[in-house]
Amino acid sequence: MTRIFSGIKPTGHLTLGNYLGAVRQWVKTDQHRGDALFCVVDLHALTVDHDPARVRRLSRQAATLLLAAGLDPTCCTLFVQSHVAEHTRLAYLLECTATDGEMRRMIQYKEKAARERATGGSVRLSLLTYPVLMAADILAYGADEVPVGDDQAQHVELTRDLAMRFNQRYGHAFTVPRAVLPDVAARVMDLQDPLSKMGKSHAETSGIVYLLDDADVVRRKVMRAVTDSGSEVAYDRETQPGVANLLEILAACKGGDSKPDELAAGYDSYGALKKDTAEAVVEVLRPVRERHAELCAEPGYVDEVLRAGAERARGVARPTVDGAYRAIGLLPPV
Ligand code: AMP
Ligand code: TRP
Repeated sequence: MTRIFSGIKPTGHLTLGNYLGAVRQWVKTDQHRGDALFCVVDLHALTVDHDPARVRRLSRQAATLLLAAGLDPTCCTLFVQSHVAEHTRLAYLLECTATDGEMRRMIQYKEKAARERATGGSVRLSLLTYPVLMAADILAYGADEVPVGDDQAQHVELTRDLAMRFNQRYGHAFTVPRAVLPDVAARVMDLQDPLSKMGKSHAETSGIVYLLDDADVVRRKVMRAVTDSGSEVAYDRETQPGVANLLEILAACKGGDSKPDELAAGYDSYGALKKDTAEAVVEVLRPVRERHAELCAEPGYVDEVLRAGAERARGVARPTVDGAYRAIGLLPPV
């Protein structure tokens, strides 16, 4: 059976980008077509300046929202990264496999480190080694597929390189995984700045739609989205990034076979496109928000899902990580 693994970091409230780029795929297809594990990767949230209470709160909120969005613990395994020690155990071996140059070439590291330095902050060493921990997340479970948004493709590519290098040097220890990207909305852009990704770690602005925004807030944000000069509705990411983003969001929310370029033909004004996009987003988010409110009233249920999830995850990861410890030359404990 195909093993599927993916993760989400509790660095901010989940956004429409997370939902359309990743979570929706996990819910609709991934959890039904293989042995799927989904992880709230809390250790990754410590790579940038953080507030302990906020990370704790956001970790629980992310798990609750994933259940609200439709992850079903009878079909998949949902857990919190720091509850399973195999991730950090394996990360060290992969630090002994990766090179300094490889880490410094990661686009996300370069961008985030530059942002930290520009604001006078210091760059945590873990920001540099983060992709190695991500590789450990994936390889510990022998994942075949990693469903992610476009921004994570480079990290999955690195994971493949590390798995192949390790296997070649020390004998077969890891499955070589591949990234699976959604057909549309692999990169949802900020509504106020359609050249930047809609990112949950960014400062809150009206360009970011959160899964827990209420209907009126969603409508206001979408209606105020920056569009392009000109007035023709066409799907062209280069010349009309704002309109293209709305068309992708609309297509993704409609689902089925909706294609952004075909939808464009049905509109002769930006206003009508925004209105339909706003309503489509409201309809997609409504059940998630409602279910989230119900689950918040049942914290014991979420705790139990996470407890059972961590137990299953440990059982899957331990033999693979123990095998890697032996393969690399460490003396097994007696
Ligand atoms: P993160 O928020 O970085 O933890 O990302 C969790 C998942 O959501 C990853 O698979 C990302 O690739 C995906 N994702 C995050 N932001 C976006 C976005 N703006 N568009 C599409 N996918 C996204
Ligand atoms: N780095 C990913 C992100 O920022 C989150 C993540 C951590 C992840 N470990 C993972 C995604 C393993 C997929 C598989 O979005």
